[in-house]
Amino acid sequence: MMTLTEFITIKERDFQNATGNLTALLNDIVLAAKTIHRDVNRAGLMDIIGATGDENIQGEVVQKLDIHADQLLIKYLQNGGQCCGIGSEENDTFIAFDDQHKLDPHYVVLFDPLDGSSNIDVCAPIGTIFSIYKKKSPGKVELSDFLQKGTEIVAAGYVIYGSSTMLVFSTGRGVNGFTLDASIGEFCLSHPDIKTPEMNNTYSINQGGMYKYEQYIHDFVDWCSADDKTSKRPYSLRYIGSMVADFHRNLLKGGIFIYPAMKESPQGKLRILYECIPMAFLQEQAGGIATDGEQRILEKEVTDLHQRTPIIIGSKNWSKN
Ligand code: AHG
Ligand code: MN
Ligand code: MN
Repeated sequence: MMTLTEFITIKERDFQNATGNLTALLNDIVLAAKTIHRDVNRAGLMDIIGATGDENIQGEVVQKLDIHADQLLIKYLQNGGQCCGIGSEENDTFIAFDDQHKLDPHYVVLFDPLDGSSNIDVCAPIGTIFSIYKKKSPGKVELSDFLQKGTEIVAAGYVIYGSSTMLVFSTGRGVNGFTLDASIGEFCLSHPDIKTPEMNNTYSINQGGMYKYEQYIHDFVDWCSADDKTSKRPYSLRYIGSMVADFHRNLLKGGIFIYPAMKESPQGKLRILYECIPMAFLQEQAGGIATDGEQRILEKEVTDLHQRTPIIIGSKNWSKN
């Protein structure tokens, strides 16, 4: 069984535009992921269940595990010395690691430290989503280094803390999945070269929010839930409320995930930098599609760290319906 460390050493040449430092950077993220895995697994025994009592920049309730995971990622990335700054869903602005100037690290990392906060307290799958870009500015890291389009991404991935803990990532040459063997503390290659099915009979959307969605979403959901034997409808609705978990199922089995524009928030809910671009990159690398309804997610301009976007992401042949 090939471990992740072996895999990235052998495949290092696949890291487009990258230097060996990317291997070390990925290892820092993996270390944080293993620690989050450990703590998620005994969350009920530690004082990390429930809300902190604060709201984040996006007006959302912050869970203790959101902050715990955020702090772990920041600590490992700062100590690792391969990253010049991070942007996180839980922080108002980016954090520059100015003390790293001697090492002159090339990369910035953006992350959603803990995705699926509403599922933390109920033992349902949650995750960590990350993406890596090269610093573009000549001097100190600056805001523009974090506001790059998805087409500039160097690598992205997620960790799902589910019935197994898995790391799924891509450096732009396909998608590979690694399952954590906790007994040896290593992620091992379990899902090489993931290709998403071109179609399946699963759709994922918060149907409870229908009254907020535009007519074309109503039409789509009506079509999915109509009876038609030739196209094997009605299709199955599967939606747990952790993007990582809904995405992971659809990536492996086929399906479509939608978080649409809403009447009072035309940009939807999900964050383009922390959630949508990394998942769009993985989805496309696995042969699927990711759009906001008009434009490829990866080609959208990014002007704000906490920008949101509607997203339709999944199997290719759904776009023909
Ligand atoms: P987060 O926990 O990082 O704030 O993300 C939650 C997101 C995403 O994971 C999920 O798909 C979506 O919010 C669920 O939102 P609804 O409860 O509105 O369906
Ligand atoms: Mn999230
Ligand atoms: Mn989150």
